[in-house]
Amino acid sequence: MTEHPVPAPVVPPLVRPRRLRTTPALRRMVAEQQVQARQLVLPVFIREGLTEPKPVSSMPGVVQHTRDSLLAAVSEAAELGLGGVMLFGVPETKDATGSGALDPSGVLNLAITDVVAEVGDALTVMSDLCLDEFTDHGHCGVLTADGRVDNDQTLAAYADMARAQAHAGVDMVGPSGMMDGQVRVIRDALDAFEHTDVGILAYSAKYASAFFGPFREAVDSSLVGDRRTYQQDPANAREGVREALLDVAEGADMVMVKPALPYLDVVRRVREAVEVPVAAYNVSGEYAQLEAAAERGWIDREAAILETLTSIHRAGADVILTYWASEAARLLAL
Ligand code: PBG
Repeated sequence: MTEHPVPAPVVPPLVRPRRLRTTPALRRMVAEQQVQARQLVLPVFIREGLTEPKPVSSMPGVVQHTRDSLLAAVSEAAELGLGGVMLFGVPETKDATGSGALDPSGVLNLAITDVVAEVGDALTVMSDLCLDEFTDHGHCGVLTADGRVDNDQTLAAYADMARAQAHAGVDMVGPSGMMDGQVRVIRDALDAFEHTDVGILAYSAKYASAFFGPFREAVDSSLVGDRRTYQQDPANAREGVREALLDVAEGADMVMVKPALPYLDVVRRVREAVEVPVAAYNVSGEYAQLEAAAERGWIDREAAILETLTSIHRAGADVILTYWASEAARLLAL
C-alpha cells in the first residue's frame, strides 16, 4: 500500500487591518470622511442692553454678545470659512406672547440686518424661530388659559415672526418650537410675502433633553417645568424619522436632529430616510460637559472636540451646529 501524504492545512495569511494605520499619510489617505469648516454653523447669542459681552458661566468661552462683539464674531466666522451662523436674540423685557420676536426693531430682527450687512453672502445667516427667548413663562409658544401651549395660536405667531425675520434679511429661518404644522405655516407665510428664497432649516426631531440646560442660562430663560408636551420623548427614534418626513413634506429645505451625541442613531435613520441635507445640533450640555472635564484636566480638550464632530458627521450629519465651530475650523486647518 502506498502512503498518501496528508496535505498541509491551508492557513490563510493573517489579516492585518493595522497595515493601513502605519503612517500618518496612509491614515490620511484612507480616512473615510472628514468634517469641514464649510459644514459647521456657529450659534451666537445677542443680548439687548449689554455694554460688554457677558460670559455664560455654564458654557466657558461662550458669551452673550453686544452688537459690536457679535459683528466681530461673525466676521471671524466668515474668514474661517464656516457654513453659517445661527442667531439667538435675548430681549431685555419679556411678555406672555413674546411680542419682542415680532417687533421689527426687536433685538433679533435688528441683529439679522446687522449681521447680513457685515458678512454679506460669505455666510449663511440663520435665525432661531421660536418664542421661548421672548416669553416671560419661557415656553416656545403662547399659552391657553389653563397653561398649555396652544399649537395653532402659536403657529400664527410663528408666521409673523418668519415674515419679520425675512424682512430683516435672513437667509434661512430655524423653527425650533416643535409645533405641529410649523413648517407649512411658515412656508406659506414666507411665500405670501414674496420671500420665496428664504429657506427653512426645520428642527424636526427635537427631544425634551436635559442637555439643553446651559442654553437656558445663555438666553436668560425663565422656564419653569418642562417641554414634554411638544418636544419628543428620548425613547422614540422612529418618531424622529416621522417628524423629519412630515417636515420635508411641509416644505423644509433641511431637517435637524437635536441634541446630537445622545441621538446619533436618529441622525443616521433620518439621513437614510430623507433626501434633503440633515443637520445635527451639538447642544449646550454636550459642550459644557466636555469643557468641564477639560477644565479639570480630565480629558484632552482639542482631541475630544474633533472626535465629537467627526462622530456626528460619521453618523450622517451634513451640517453641524456647534459652539466650537470657529475653533474647530482653526484646528481642522492645522
Ligand atoms: C429653543 C431652543 C433651545 C435650544 C435651541 N433652540 C432650547 C430649548 O428648546 O429648550 C437649545 C440649544 C442648546 O442647548 O445648545 N428656542
